[in-house]
Amino acid sequence: MNNSNLARETAPDASPNALIEIRDLSKRFGPEQVLSDVNLSVARGDSLVLIGGSGSGKSLLLKCIVGLVTPTSGSICIDGHDTAAMPARERRAFERRFGMLFQRQGLFDSMTVWENVAFRLLQDRDLSRSDARDIADDKIRSVGLGVEVGDLYPAELSGGMQKRVGFARAIATDPDILFLDEPTAGLDPIMSNVINEIITHGVEALGATTISITSDMVSARKISNRIAMIDEGHIIWDGPTMDIDESGNPVVERFIRSNVQIFQN
Ligand SMILES: Nc1ncnc2c1ncn2[C@@H]1O[C@H](COP(=O)(O)OP(=O)(O)O)[C@@H](O)[C@H]1O
Ligand SMILES: [Mg+2]
Repeated sequence: MNNSNLARETAPDASPNALIEIRDLSKRFGPEQVLSDVNLSVARGDSLVLIGGSGSGKSLLLKCIVGLVTPTSGSICIDGHDTAAMPARERRAFERRFGMLFQRQGLFDSMTVWENVAFRLLQDRDLSRSDARDIADDKIRSVGLGVEVGDLYPAELSGGMQKRVGFARAIATDPDILFLDEPTAGLDPIMSNVINEIITHGVEALGATTISITSDMVSARKISNRIAMIDEGHIIWDGPTMDIDESGNPVVERFIRSNVQIFQN
């Protein structure tokens, strides 16, 4: 591709360092406006966490970014490319750079752990099963599990081990953009901490840009350098993690306070 093509595909006023640039994004389902004029830019290397109450639109925003849901209006540029304008084939090639851990997309029960981890490697690439297994073993080890776990089935694992395997699957293709939807949901605080450590180290090793969702502020603080809060489909606060306690926004303050109470009880 020559420079003039590149220039044309780059949004004229995109922030120079933004890897992901979301502009005026809205999503409606029938009469229900779920996302309203979302503007968000994620720099390369950022670890952004989206926080917000249940049903506020966090998962939906992630699904719009990865292309699983088509926005009603607005644009999403990744690396300067408007994703909506991208032909399907180019789009699929692009999506190989993504790693995802979805809230309701668990592990496949009928596959072994290593086959789960290697799922996209086996689908997308010209890899032999034994090469795919080698990569899967590597990822399984990187989340602190023994390679023998690879031959087990998901039902034989504890909740914490399943989350580790889910993360190993998300990083299997060495993605440079990682999306993690509630990676510690349902875990006790100690196990959440273990998973947060694994995420932090894994992301660092990959050098990936990450957008995560979590309902728990302890995890949010631990795995992010930036936080954005969604409330009823609007981004109501967005800034460095270290500034969140001085947001000056009553809704953010209430969210942080109620979150502390949950963990004290
Ligand atoms: N495919 C869909 N069809 C209709 N409504 C949807 C769909 N996906 C999400 N929603 C609605 O959008 C709102 C936000 O959902 P979601 O993003 O999953 O919330 P959360 O912030 O808890 O992740 C909810 O009210 C949900 O019912
Ligand atoms: Mg959700």
